[in-house]
Amino acid sequence: MRTAQGIIAPVTEHFQVRGGARLVGEVEVVGAKNSVLKLMAAALLAEGTTTLTNCPEILDVPLMGDVLRSLGCTVDIDGDLVRITTPAQLNHRADSASMGKLRASVCVLGPLVGRLRHAVVALPGGDAIGSRPLDMHQNGLRQLGASSEIEHGCVVAKAEALRGAQIWLDFPSVGATENILMAAVLAEGTTVIDNAAREPEIVDLCLMLQEMGAKVEGAGTSTLTVHGVTELAPTEHRVVGDRIVGATWAFAAAMTGGDITVKGVNPHHLDLVLEKLRTAGAEITTFDDGFRVVQDGRATSVDFMTLPYPGFATDLQPFAIALSAVADGTSMITENLFEARFRFVEEMIRLGADARTDGHHAVVRGVPRLSSAPVWASDIRAGVGLVLAGLCADGVTEVWDVFHIDRGYPKFVENMQRLGADVRRVLGEPTRA
Ligand code: UD1
Repeated sequence: MRTAQGIIAPVTEHFQVRGGARLVGEVEVVGAKNSVLKLMAAALLAEGTTTLTNCPEILDVPLMGDVLRSLGCTVDIDGDLVRITTPAQLNHRADSASMGKLRASVCVLGPLVGRLRHAVVALPGGDAIGSRPLDMHQNGLRQLGASSEIEHGCVVAKAEALRGAQIWLDFPSVGATENILMAAVLAEGTTVIDNAAREPEIVDLCLMLQEMGAKVEGAGTSTLTVHGVTELAPTEHRVVGDRIVGATWAFAAAMTGGDITVKGVNPHHLDLVLEKLRTAGAEITTFDDGFRVVQDGRATSVDFMTLPYPGFATDLQPFAIALSAVADGTSMITENLFEARFRFVEEMIRLGADARTDGHHAVVRGVPRLSSAPVWASDIRAGVGLVLAGLCADGVTEVWDVFHIDRGYPKFVENMQRLGADVRRVLGEPTRA
């Protein structure tokens, strides 16, 4: 079956989740999906071989590899190692079938414009979480001196020369910051990106660009200053730990009355999340590269509001709803970035959640126990949110369209099982609609 995101999905595969287990143990988190894909795109900026370590073994990495191959790169993926060899002559057309399969494919736009002053980039695919325009990406490139139009389903960008500029973003968009940054590193003169995104994955990209010889200042702040250089060199870089996956396990502990130690994530990347879980009743200790979440009994309700980093990440919103669904009390969850993420609420209602939404807010009254049902994942995080909810449901919950989860979570079922969850990957048709 081909989905709206263009992914060939094995329709007969689903997860069976038997509720009731308390998740206990240790889990190791590897590099972030939302970083590695951008770092792979950054490899286009320098001729030669770039090596990325600590890469997650997820479906999106080989998909991004296909995108880079279509541009002329050689890509070698070996476990957590990704090696990209970028030729002197790159193809400027990124319009292969792989482009439509993931959102991050659009991040080849900035590097191609930076290197070639010419790019034809197919509009990206990715999660169905709401409208995802590219106006800020395009406006940024225009301010650097490129033309940018949408033609026949592609962004077409062209420049005689790229010149540094003062760029104000209307919103601290992650993707727009990345694309503008990756074009600006090879522009003439100085670019200042104001109201830039501050996510740890942006900092990771800035670090790698610096290692490649780029002059970037202000990483992790809302003002990025880039002094353009004429050439960059390939590098070896370790991908930052996946804070969203780390937070997933933190929510799993809070929801199941569990005790989970997470390693491989900087706990400061989750300061607000861990504080929220403390308010919900969890006992949390942090160390250099991880944290431990211990929940004794049922969590109490907490309100959540999604915002750009350092606010509460929109990617964690389904987990906030899942936690609220089984917490003691009523929670208000406000979504400020991607309206369609609240589709998740409908699936939670199938599982017996007492929840309603007006499309911007969700009000969730916690119930002591959910009730198993067949449910469908609409995106990566919604899929994982449904598995977490299934852990707190009576009976066996079937989660369908799990290819979404495979796009972003390495060894998901194995990690669940190691922590004591009864989660299995199964072949077979849905038992009921
Ligand atoms: C990235 C992440 C995604 C995460 C999101 C916000 C990847 C592959 N995906 O997505 O998991 O949920 O950041 O943390 O890294 N917008 C515009 N015009 C633009 C660009 C964005 O209006 O040109 C809007 C979007 O519709 C959205 C908001 O800005 O409402 C934030 O989007 P953005 O930060 O760009 O998200 P992505 O980079 O697409």
